Formats: sequence, C-alpha cells, structure tokens
Amino acid sequence: MDVKLISGALGAEISGINLADTSVSNFNLINKLLLEHKVLFFRNQNITADDQISLAKCFGPLEKHVYVKPRENYPEIIRIIKGPNEKHQWGETWHTDVSYNVKPTKVIILRSVKIPPVGGDTMFSNMEIAYETLDKEIKNKLKNKTAIHSSLGAAAFVDKYEKMSGNGNMDEYSNIHPVVRTHPETGKKILYVNSMYTKKINDMDKKESDEILNEIFKHQERLDFTCRFKWTENAVAIWDNRSTLHQGLTDFFPGKGLGYERIMDRIAIEGDKPH
Ligand SMILES: [Fe+2]
Repeated sequence: MDVKLISGALGAEISGINLADTSVSNFNLINKLLLEHKVLFFRNQNITADDQISLAKCFGPLEKHVYVKPRENYPEIIRIIKGPNEKHQWGETWHTDVSYNVKPTKVIILRSVKIPPVGGDTMFSNMEIAYETLDKEIKNKLKNKTAIHSSLGAAAFVDKYEKMSGNGNMDEYSNIHPVVRTHPETGKKILYVNSMYTKKINDMDKKESDEILNEIFKHQERLDFTCRFKWTENAVAIWDNRSTLHQGLTDFFPGKGLGYERIMDRIAIEGDKPH
C-alpha cells in the first residue's frame, strides 16, 4: 500500500488497496486512513455499482437523498450528471452534504464514470484545522451556540440542473446543530457551519449572526486548509462529511472544459446527530 499526501491540510491518494474487498481487515484499514486524512482518493478501481454499495454498507446504513431521484435499479445511488453544455454542476459552492438533516451524512463514496478533459475538480477543506485556527474572540462567542441549517428546497437540487431529476418531494427542512461539534470517532472539535445551508446562529441578533457567519465562511475558505483532486475515470473519493467541506469547481469554459459530460455515482452513509 502507498499513501501519498496531496496537500498539507488533508487528503491522501492511496494505491494498493482494492475497494471491492469488503473484509473486516480491509474496511478497518480504509476507515483508519479516512479518519487520519479525511478524504481518500483511489484511481483505476473499476469497481461495479454493487461493489460500491457493499463498501458503503461497511460504514453503516445508507441514506436516501430527500430530493433527488436515484439511479434506476440502484435506489442507493444518485447519478450526478452535468450535461455537455451546462456551465454549472451539483455541489458547486462550499458545503457539507445535507447539514439540514437531523442526522447529516457520515461518509460519501463518489465514483467517477465520465470526466471532462479539463475542469470540474473537487476541493475539500479541513474543518478541524478551521476550528483550531479560528480567532479566539469568535471562538468565545461561539461557545455552546447552535445554528439553524435549512435545505434550499427541491429546486436548488433539481430544477437548476438539466440532467438531475427530483423524487417529487418539494418540502423544505430546517434543523439545529451545534456550531462546534465533536467528532464521534476522533473526539476532535469541528467547525460545523457552511455557507450553503447555515442560515443563522441562535440566541444572537440577526446582524451579529450575519457578521460572525460571514467572517467564519471567509475563514473556512482559506486555501491552506484545502486540497484539490483532479479526477480521472474510474476513480473513487471517500470523504468524512462530518469534518470537511467540499465543492465541485465549475470551471467549464468555452474551448476548454465546456462541451463535455461529467458523470459521478454518489452513495451516502447516514451519520449521527451532531453533538
Ligand atoms: Fe456535496
């Protein structure tokens, strides 16, 4: 096995591990690497949809997306498709998946099916480091605070994207989570807000909440907290959705990445209620 760090902040590209091997020892190794590096990348895996599902089940019960229609015959998988002429793609600003749920996603396993020649890399940011390096005064203000996270409704997940289809659910959801959560496996503190879904810090007036959240969102985007993965086909990313933010870059411009399809298969594993 070889572990190559891809930035100083987080992320490792792993070779010499077969993701179709769901033995306890192989899974324990993958999970140990995941907790250490927060996001793992594997190239040339050639795993099937069933292999991807079996691996995901090792982490825990699978999660159904509240808005997006899954793949035919594979209710566990969402196929994320960017059409050739779409400039936007799913998940295109910093966020952590479904933080508006009571129990947001624990881990995501994303497999690349079709990748444009250039454009559409995925970036990740380390929210443990973001917490550690946060301004002391802000840290004090956040002590024991919670924030409200809201889903943006089905339109934000489906209507905006030509190739994504909804499952018929049009409701909006909100839930409250601690602003700083403790990782259930590592015990580390994590800055748990994100600019996509976090709307307001509770027990604070709106103006102060807006100011602090804007300050935090800027801090979370610091490039020295991040890593960036350039996809190839048949690659797999596994990330800890509790301790990271991510975004799919939308650098699809005429004469370069525009004009090509991008297809990914996503499986989400259900997390626990943040504490
Ligand atoms: Fe996402």
